[in-house]
Amino acid sequence: MSLSLSTTSSSSPLLLRRTAAITDDEFREFRDFIYTKCGIWVDEKRKYLFENRFGKRLGELGLKTFSDYLRLLRHDPGREKELQQVFELVTTNETSLYRDLKQLDGFKAHILQPLLAEQRKSARPELNIWSAGCSSGEEPYTLAIMLHEELGPDIKRWNIRITGCDLSPAVVAKAKAGVYADYAFKTTPEIIKKKYFTPVPGGLKVAPHVAALTSFMTLNLNDTLAIKRIPKSHVVFCRNVIIYFDDAMKKKVVGSFYENLAPGGFLVLGHSETLHKISSAFRPKFISGAVAYQRI
Ligand SMILES: C[S@@+](CC[C@H](N)C(=O)[O-])C[C@H]1O[C@@H](n2cnc3c(N)ncnc32)[C@H](O)[C@@H]1O
Repeated sequence: MSLSLSTTSSSSPLLLRRTAAITDDEFREFRDFIYTKCGIWVDEKRKYLFENRFGKRLGELGLKTFSDYLRLLRHDPGREKELQQVFELVTTNETSLYRDLKQLDGFKAHILQPLLAEQRKSARPELNIWSAGCSSGEEPYTLAIMLHEELGPDIKRWNIRITGCDLSPAVVAKAKAGVYADYAFKTTPEIIKKKYFTPVPGGLKVAPHVAALTSFMTLNLNDTLAIKRIPKSHVVFCRNVIIYFDDAMKKKVVGSFYENLAPGGFLVLGHSETLHKISSAFRPKFISGAVAYQRI
């Protein structure tokens, strides 16, 4: 039997109101399915997350149980498209421009400025930064603005590439659009907001000379082969992403970062994340109250 992906939302409003309950067996099967696809590990304590986030989707598809949904995800001709929906629903995309100012100040003083000083000596200085798990683009744009602030007009001489990637196609589309509402600016210095953003319908749009340093793509960090297409980096930012992975997936992803980084390059994790027990191939570097990791 082939299950249709057409939605029943307009024809069966009652279905939308029902939240599908998930049995323990279904929870384990669905959790393992998600883990295999993208490395996100949902703890048993967060079973409610599946019911809350996917109940409505089951209703839209006219499905009664999570077993029906799993069957669709495994066998339906439209399963690849539906998998993107799963990624949208299972990910947490919380982010903002200039998120964690203290850590960014530490990064600027202890990593960015020395790196720029080193590169400046070259006839054609370059800098590649990879923002892995960039959500809707606020982190890569923050880094691009920081570079404009550091380099000023001299930036024209530089070859700078900031590559943002995320599992969720919806947030990547938002990143490419570069238009943000007030919430995204909650930690952004007012002067930066005025200097690099202009009002458009729906919010403030990032300036073209900032966007020009960035590019965005949908990419699954669980896909070791696809990761090889990312340009080699001087710095990898992966903040507030590996908290959603178990240790095996953390090791796999950090191994990919190691491969991607130039010798002596830096990995920047979220302020509460650590490589302790995950990798000994990096040297911790203290950057004003935060820690970054240097590839040995
Ligand atoms: C909480 S956001 C962090 C955004 C940004 N790095 C920051 O700190 O503001 C986590 C992001 O990681 C992405 N993510 C989770 N698993 C992923 C995977 N397997 N591959 C790529 N991105 C993933 C999610 O889609 C989400 O947008």
